[in-house]
Amino acid sequence: MIPVRRTLPTLAVIALLSPSASSADFGFDNAKQLFTTYCISCHQAKPASGGLNLESFMVPDSLVQRGPKWNSILNRVRNSEMPPRGAPAPPSEQREAFTTWLHEALKKEACSTGISAGAAPIRRLNRAEYSSTVRDLLNVQMDIGAGLPMDGAGGEGFDNAAETLFLSPVHAEKYLDAAKTALEFAAKDPRSRAKFMISTPRPGVTPREAAREILTAFLPRAFRRPVDDADLQVYLGLFDIAQKGKATFDDSVLYALKGVLVSPQFLFRSEDPNPNPQPRPLDDYALATRLSYFLWGTTPDSLLLVLAKAGKLHDPEILQGQVARMLRNQRSFDFVQSFVEQWLGTRALGQTVQPDAKLFPAYAGDEELRGDVRYQPVLFFREILANDLSLLNLIDSKFTITTKKLQKLYGLSIDPPRKDRGSQPQRIELPEGTHRGGLLGMSAILAVSSHPQRTSPVLRGKWILDAMLGTPPPPPPPDVPALEEPTGPAPRTVRELLSQHRANPVCASCHSRIDPLGFALENYDAIGRWRDQESGKPVDAKGTLPDGTAFEGPDQLKTVLMARKDVFIRNLTNKMLGYALGRGLTLKDSCVVDTIVADVQNHDYRAGALINAVVMSVPFRYQVESTRAKVVTK
Ligand code: HEC
Ligand code: HEC
Repeated sequence: MIPVRRTLPTLAVIALLSPSASSADFGFDNAKQLFTTYCISCHQAKPASGGLNLESFMVPDSLVQRGPKWNSILNRVRNSEMPPRGAPAPPSEQREAFTTWLHEALKKEACSTGISAGAAPIRRLNRAEYSSTVRDLLNVQMDIGAGLPMDGAGGEGFDNAAETLFLSPVHAEKYLDAAKTALEFAAKDPRSRAKFMISTPRPGVTPREAAREILTAFLPRAFRRPVDDADLQVYLGLFDIAQKGKATFDDSVLYALKGVLVSPQFLFRSEDPNPNPQPRPLDDYALATRLSYFLWGTTPDSLLLVLAKAGKLHDPEILQGQVARMLRNQRSFDFVQSFVEQWLGTRALGQTVQPDAKLFPAYAGDEELRGDVRYQPVLFFREILANDLSLLNLIDSKFTITTKKLQKLYGLSIDPPRKDRGSQPQRIELPEGTHRGGLLGMSAILAVSSHPQRTSPVLRGKWILDAMLGTPPPPPPPDVPALEEPTGPAPRTVRELLSQHRANPVCASCHSRIDPLGFALENYDAIGRWRDQESGKPVDAKGTLPDGTAFEGPDQLKTVLMARKDVFIRNLTNKMLGYALGRGLTLKDSCVVDTIVADVQNHDYRAGALINAVVMSVPFRYQVESTRAKVVTK
């Protein structure tokens, strides 16, 4: 391969903490001017690069008529992909003003036609959902998902996004294996058998009648909706085939059930298509299914199905009552863990992120501590949800969840000391000055945004911008040299090493916004322990953002973030809605997000308000016009 020498982007854009002042004055005429200066040379009539002739976008009406194309312009400019490298590019303030203006203009257009339900693509149950669903159907306590292929992340960054959940031949085979294993296991366990082997051939009951009874009860549970006789006949047919092959009654039933567990109606979540151009409320069974996979990650239980049958789930009082019940149930732990670990990136702990065992032996060698570290953010979120507390506790809080081991790691002495062995996580009130409130005081967050051997203010700054504020910096240019390691005869602090690149204006265009946030966390080492010194020098935890906002240490950083609490809540809402819908959000969804954010604000930022508003939202409860979706196989 021939190495390509690429130039750095002239100035990279990041719509970071505060949109620049100039975006407010930006208008359509400025956009035209930007096109003329930086785009039109390549994008005019024949031959138009990429088939895009920007001359027809020079009239405001085009915002209405050509929304999707404008959206693609927004994305290409925002990601610094247009103009291409090497061509003259607008300065970063102008680019940012343009993208901020365009985003607002398109959103206004998208929202002017009212809130829309958005697409609800058909999707396969992901690995965790399949596992929990089979567990609940057969009452087996085994992780049958272990042998299934991992799912990629799509949309808002979650592994339940329809975009990635197609069915490959590899998947089909593995699911068949998993179904077989689970059924064989269940058939041997009396408690499992009682759940689905509800009939046997007795005097006066033919094997076929017994099988029919079993399937009649099993199919609606497996398919999450009532079934008709044609469905039943398909699986009775499988039973018949096995019987003809001289299989025992048990084996014949299991053969039919295996057919159920690999059928598209079971493996895929699909909803009856809406043939009308008008959005309509989902049917109750589909709503029960959405609700159950959102808050439990598994199939609806009998109460949800009973309410669906009675047609009561759309009643707001009943629906919200169910949400409260489901959140109290132990199964909601799966939702919290799945959501929090994917949102915050802490699932990578112990997998792709491992603090160095030589430098941090006490951490690396203690499995229990590692577990405590990983579960802390999950249990903290669950505490907030279970007690309907303010979501702003995630930014800063006067309490946290710890075990004795975590308290030791954090140097926390709690008064009165805990009497129990301390291995169970417990809520503790934090005395002043412990620096352990909110997510940023947690080892899991501080470790997942560090390198194995050292902290990285860059990675921590990026983590805050991405996970907390939803404004990730663009990826670094390809030819940046790696940081020298802070070792050698005259060891330097990571901060000193980084100062080199902030002196270079090209590097500074990104790093002046990323690094200061991370500097404020330099008092935490790579596994989140407090330190006052690094490489023999006092820690310097001062940071100043490009707009002049200055702060020192985690407590002041949290104050800065608290002043941006609505940016944080909007990002969390985006994540929660994306997770609930199991798809990436579109510009149209941002109108819905606006209304949810307003609702959360009106309820003092309480966690329950967010979940309720998501469940009550139009995209969650309605479906748009759709034709019968085809099962995608790749
Ligand atoms: C030096 C030539 C050049 C300049 C200047 C340029 N582009 Fe492009 N553009 C291309 C080429 C070549 C493609 C097709 C390849 C691709 O998609 O990357 C393209 C593709 C695109 C696309 C995708 C086409 C589509 O239909 O979705 C968009 C959008 C776009 N450009 C917008 C812009 C905007 C906005 C500017 C100015 C800010 C700009 N471009 C400046 C060369 C250019
Ligand atoms: C377009 C924005 C952008 C520009 C421009 C940029 N960087 Fe970065 N840089 C990043 C991001 C984002 C990361 C974090 C990458 C990651 O996630 O691994 C990073 C990471 C780094 C790191 C690794 C830090 C660590 O702790 O390991 C160094 C060193 C670095 N950049 C130096 C530079 C230098 C020197 C320049 C200028 C020549 C530069 N960067 C220009 C965005 C940028």
